[in-house]
Amino acid sequence: MKVAFYKHNLNEVDKAACMEVLNSMFLTTGSVVEEFERRFAELMGSPFAIGTNSCTNSLFLCLKYFDIGQGHEVITTAMSFLGTSHAIERTGAKPVYVDVESETGNIDLSLIESAITPYTKAIIPVHLYGQMIDMKQLKRIADRHGLAIIEDACHAIESERDGYRPGMFSDAACFSFYATKNMTAGEGGAIICKQQRMYEWLSKARIQGVNKHAAQRHGKRYQHYELDFLGYKFNMSNIQAALLVNQMDRLAKYLDIKQKISARYEQAFTQTQGVDFPIALPETKHARHIFTIWVNPAIRDTVLDELQTRDVGVAVNYRATHLYRYYREKYQFRRGQLPVTERIGDSTITLPLYSQLLDEEVDYVIEAVRESVKSARELV
Ligand SMILES: Cc1ncc(COP(=O)(O)O)c(C=O)c1O
Repeated sequence: MKVAFYKHNLNEVDKAACMEVLNSMFLTTGSVVEEFERRFAELMGSPFAIGTNSCTNSLFLCLKYFDIGQGHEVITTAMSFLGTSHAIERTGAKPVYVDVESETGNIDLSLIESAITPYTKAIIPVHLYGQMIDMKQLKRIADRHGLAIIEDACHAIESERDGYRPGMFSDAACFSFYATKNMTAGEGGAIICKQQRMYEWLSKARIQGVNKHAAQRHGKRYQHYELDFLGYKFNMSNIQAALLVNQMDRLAKYLDIKQKISARYEQAFTQTQGVDFPIALPETKHARHIFTIWVNPAIRDTVLDELQTRDVGVAVNYRATHLYRYYREKYQFRRGQLPVTERIGDSTITLPLYSQLLDEEVDYVIEAVRESVKSARELV
């Protein structure tokens, strides 16, 4: 048997919506992006949504809205995809990492206050794998110190915690529609926010700083546009939006399937020696974006190899950001600084988790993990 790491859920309805755009004049930002924004805001229970081309650029734009740059610090986690840190780094500010909780891999809120300095301007939490952090507690911390909160909600479209959602206790929440996300357009991103002023700035900033996007300029008659400030080129296209609009209706159905698969993994690995996994807290609704196991760091790469030999698609989400060469050399970050993040980064393996995964494929993955871990343990 061969089990792919990921299969997307794009169906004939999504493809037809995309074809409709391809057969029209407006391939770039236009009415389909506006429709996506309206529906995404509604889905997330937020007053405003802005379509962009990635989560990395969305995070960056939000930081720029708060004038964050050279000489500033932004607190975040090193247990995330590099894009989280790159967004901070690209503004000129310094990413400051606090360690994560050993049970969930999420940022440890009890460590944040001691990392705050006079240079700290914002906090970027990540809802790792789809499990939301305690945003109410984070908001209390941020308010005490006058800091902005920008959520990296790439894994958390469907997430809830104690009944609240991403975007409700922050200044903004950013999403990714990258190829393997729960909702995808191959590439793409979005921001939700509550403030009209922020919404207006972000809407222009993502498209050069001009006050009209292409479809608004080319309505019935051509209209001039004004350049309000120097912006960026981060807009979403109608092609991406067309792929996304209908997927929103199917998220709940897919989540239900992924919850069942995750429960089977958890049940099996609870009884497997040498295999651990992050716990799902009862107060959270987990979006089940990624299922990872944790094995002894001494055998992680051997198990990765063994699983691939058994034709199981795998990935690593994530190695600790501060130990990548660029960050290590620039900031003299070193091993030992974030022990829990590093332990997770050295022990983690991501297993296939998507709605088309068949029961027999899940059984096969479970058996492959058991055999791979057993044979790797015998080698050390
Ligand atoms: C947690 C997290 N943050 C940031 C990103 C970056 O998203 P994008 O590729 O849309 O820039 C990703 C995407 O993989 C992610 O998983």
